[in-house]
Amino acid sequence: MAQCQRLLVDLVLTAVLLVVAEAGGDPLDTTSGCRGLTRGRFSRVFAFGNSLTDTGNAAIFPLTAGGPFTQPPYGETFFGHPSGRASNGRIIIDFIVEKLQVPQPTPYLAGRTAADFVNGSNFAIGGATALEPAFLQSRGLTSLVPVSLSNETRWFQNVLQLLGSSSYHAQLRVTARSFFFVGEMGVNDYFLSLQNNRTVDETASLVPHVVGAIRSALVAMIAAGARTVVVTGMVPLGCAPYFLALFPGAPGDYDRVNGCNKRLNGLAELHNCELKRTLGELSRIHPGRSFVYGEVYRPIASAVASPAAYGFGNTTLAACCGGGGGPYNFSFATFCGTTASTTCADPSKSIAWDGIHFTEAANRLMATAILSGQ
Ligand SMILES: *[C@@H]1O[C@H](CO)[C@@H](O)[C@H](O)[C@H]1NC(C)=O
Ligand SMILES: *[C@@H]1O[C@H](CO)[C@@H](O)[C@H](O)[C@H]1NC(C)=O
Ligand SMILES: *[C@@H]1O[C@H](CO)[C@@H](O)[C@H](O)[C@H]1NC(C)=O
Ligand SMILES: *[C@@H]1O[C@H](CO)[C@@H](O)[C@H](O)[C@H]1NC(C)=O
Ligand SMILES: *[C@@H]1O[C@H](CO)[C@@H](O)[C@H](O)[C@H]1NC(C)=O
Repeated sequence: MAQCQRLLVDLVLTAVLLVVAEAGGDPLDTTSGCRGLTRGRFSRVFAFGNSLTDTGNAAIFPLTAGGPFTQPPYGETFFGHPSGRASNGRIIIDFIVEKLQVPQPTPYLAGRTAADFVNGSNFAIGGATALEPAFLQSRGLTSLVPVSLSNETRWFQNVLQLLGSSSYHAQLRVTARSFFFVGEMGVNDYFLSLQNNRTVDETASLVPHVVGAIRSALVAMIAAGARTVVVTGMVPLGCAPYFLALFPGAPGDYDRVNGCNKRLNGLAELHNCELKRTLGELSRIHPGRSFVYGEVYRPIASAVASPAAYGFGNTTLAACCGGGGGPYNFSFATFCGTTASTTCADPSKSIAWDGIHFTEAANRLMATAILSGQ
């Protein structure tokens, strides 16, 4: 707790404070949890999250159906057509499903019956917030897509009812052999706050609430019998083209070497510190269950710092698909999938796909980091 609060003191001093946090000993052993994630151990996956994890829900949800992500060039690299995923190809959950050799979970909004969900379900939906619309409203924030983690939790409980209708015991049999994946959550909450002209520090005051919402969802999964849960952390927000383009900082806010916004990265680090602390706490309360922190900050930050070492080109902060040029190549007027947008020749050389979401190459990098517990 104290370690995370120190991050709040000055978000710019992240690098220094991170060293302190690590020297202090992280209660969560991030190296052991994933070793047990071998193929054959799980029958199905239940996934939660936002557009970074969505495999088809936003494409069905009336408010977001037909959005730019349902148009080419989304899906051009893998699938060969738009698949409802916000990328040129596979996303993190796809690589995890491949690695675990389990079937692809059915997007929640694409199924109806128990038979539809025998392979699990993906509740993640583009635009989802961690916090409930009512809470955001109390802070003067109106979410674009009024679906929160508590909705996804209820969707999970609906599916569990379908799959284990006979008894709680039957439901426990389902969950015990299921792999739970919580994709990155909170970025839409922080975006909403910044978009409403709140400062990074004001936005940081949401962190305990966002992590609290993730904790509540985890408690519901635990109550339903979840034994293995991977919970993804926050990506480096200060290296994301849309955050960089939309929320300019003061000159001193930028890392002179890689161009990322240090204050926005500090927000992500704070989130991750709180999240790790929460997972450590849940691990202590529930021995015998595995709560694994999914590391995505470091792989992306490393790739931005040393792109060539990861096979990326030097336009590390630019959207591959979009337009407007400049270091970020991002504007809503030329958003990827609209007729005004253009796509870079080789997406595998880019980290950012549309400025908000990642290329398949970056998704693969993050999935590998998550599965190896790095
Ligand atoms: C479930 O997975 C099996 C094995 O991959 C597949 O044959 C079946 O069609 C899947 N069912 C659904 C509803 O996705
Ligand atoms: C999400 O949950 C809220 C609050 O319970 C509810 O009013 C809303 O209808 C739910 N939305 C969806 C899409 O299920
Ligand atoms: C945020 O500030 C900008 C520039 O001052 C202004 O144009 C915009 O309307 C403000 N947005 C909100 C939601 O207050
Ligand atoms: C980036 O790479 C291109 C092509 O290899 C090169 O022409 C350009 O000078 C490089 N730019 C920077 C800033 O290194
Ligand atoms: C940026 O946008 C331009 C068009 O404005 C496009 O030609 C280019 O490939 C885009 N991608 C990158 C990485 O700069």
